[in-house]
Amino acid sequence: MEKKELIQNINRLRKEKNAIILAHYYQESDIQDIADFVGDSLALAQWAAKTTADIIVLCGVHFMAETAKILSPEKRVFIPDIMASCSLAESCPADEFEKFIQSHPGHTVISYVNTTAAVKSITDIVVTSTNAKQIVESLPSDEKIIFGPDKNLGDYINKLTGRNMLLWEGACHVHEQFSLEKILELKKEYPHALLLAHPECRKYILEVADHVGSTSSIIKFARNSGNKQFIVATESGILHQMQKENPDKEFIPAPPEDSTCACNDCFYMKMNTLEKLYSCLKNERPEIFVEEEVRVKAVKPIKRMLEISAKHGL
Ligand code: 13P
Ligand code: SF4
Repeated sequence: MEKKELIQNINRLRKEKNAIILAHYYQESDIQDIADFVGDSLALAQWAAKTTADIIVLCGVHFMAETAKILSPEKRVFIPDIMASCSLAESCPADEFEKFIQSHPGHTVISYVNTTAAVKSITDIVVTSTNAKQIVESLPSDEKIIFGPDKNLGDYINKLTGRNMLLWEGACHVHEQFSLEKILELKKEYPHALLLAHPECRKYILEVADHVGSTSSIIKFARNSGNKQFIVATESGILHQMQKENPDKEFIPAPPEDSTCACNDCFYMKMNTLEKLYSCLKNERPEIFVEEEVRVKAVKPIKRMLEISAKHGL
């Protein structure tokens, strides 16, 4: 089917079925352009919690769709490709994380939203990269904390808050592959460019970054900056919104270690396509289901996150 026809059909089906299309900033451009709302993982959860639509099509990765279902169990939640996983979520199997928690009794457990429902169900508070600092700081300074699964984000938050959280050794395959050497070379070529980095990047990248933040924070920084050139150390899909909002500014993807690969693309995020979005709306599958016993436990730490975020105006 031609792109134009696909778009017409998606528009007809979403109206007929009272469906809302939510997309993450890492989705391919066509999906971002057709979505009702494009956002970071916190904003997607906030939308999923408040929408009055009957159907949510979450164009992102599995944990994002699962979080939407946990927050809105009465709605049907679909994802264009059910195999769209996340290397961070995969780096933290619930049974192993549970053993880790049990071997460190007396700790409050903070989990990044990039985790399965099973991990969230054994978590005290969920965070995203937008609110992790504020949520950690909302706890007493002597509170013992386990933070999982992203060791880079955890280490960065430890540095920002002066805490000493115990970190799970997980990482994202996209954010771990940026080359410091090549970024520094690029900075020589573009001496006025500012380096914008997601906190899932390795420590040595964050140390030389001009701004570290979540996807929405990176976009906001570029929007408000008077600077004209930026090197962007996060997944490539974000460049679409940045370029759309700032046609007069230049965004240069941070180079990966291996220059022969498409490493700046999260292959999980890019599994979703316009064709699969159409098929998902038409056939009402793949659908997300969460066992009720797991859901009632997992919803508590997510709601705690939403409450603390709201207090901070996030
Ligand atoms: P954000 O919460 O910043 O959108 O990040 C989600 C993500 O998966 C980063 O890799
Ligand atoms: Fe997960 Fe990394 Fe993809 Fe984000 S970019 S969804 S953390 S694998």
